[in-house]
Amino acid sequence: MSRGVPAAASSGFSASEMKVEPLFSEEQIRVRVEELARDVSRAFSAGTEGAPPALALVLANGALFFAADLLRKLDFPAEIEVVRVASYGAGTRSNGAPEILGGVPAEKIRGRRVLVIDDVLDTGRTLEKIRRTALECGAAEVLSCVLLDKPSRRETTERADFVGFPVGDVFVVGYGLDLGGAWRALPFIGAVSAE
Ligand code: IMP
Ligand code: MG
Repeated sequence: MSRGVPAAASSGFSASEMKVEPLFSEEQIRVRVEELARDVSRAFSAGTEGAPPALALVLANGALFFAADLLRKLDFPAEIEVVRVASYGAGTRSNGAPEILGGVPAEKIRGRRVLVIDDVLDTGRTLEKIRRTALECGAAEVLSCVLLDKPSRRETTERADFVGFPVGDVFVVGYGLDLGGAWRALPFIGAVSAE
């Protein structure tokens, strides 16, 4: 692996056979997250007189870092809940059936404007499932914000309302994103490839 980036010991991947090529630097991410926060704030501040505060649903684990940065920049008081979703085992391909492991605050969703925050929009199955679940719980509106969008990988009609960066068909790690547990805490985003 290049640039002395440490892989998590528990990843099960042979770090010596993989390398991480930087795609988006800390600074690029910081600037883009600020822009996203402005766009999201504009959308959520319209017509909120007397309405209950918006509810941010953060899809863990991948979106944790992104959401922590984005949420601190919003200029409206969102309530925050973390929903645990899993669609990947240790590999780089979604298993096609994302599972909500827990954390959907059904009683809080009714009548609220919901902002779903995820790391990567890939096939779209995760967002599709969360959107459907939120609407079934009675959400007034569901908007979504993803840091990365891979349009070439879409297998559904899902689209995100706010997108940080479009990327091609590469597997990305860092800034909360992992490959089988490895590289999640990198401060930048990089593409993984075989060495
Ligand atoms: P989808 O359901 O196929 O759209 O997949 C979305 C989920 O897959 C995201 O929430 C991510 O956690 C994960 N994912 C997709 N692509 C990547 C990637 O390149 N790196 C890390 N996680 C990814
Ligand atoms: Mg995820």
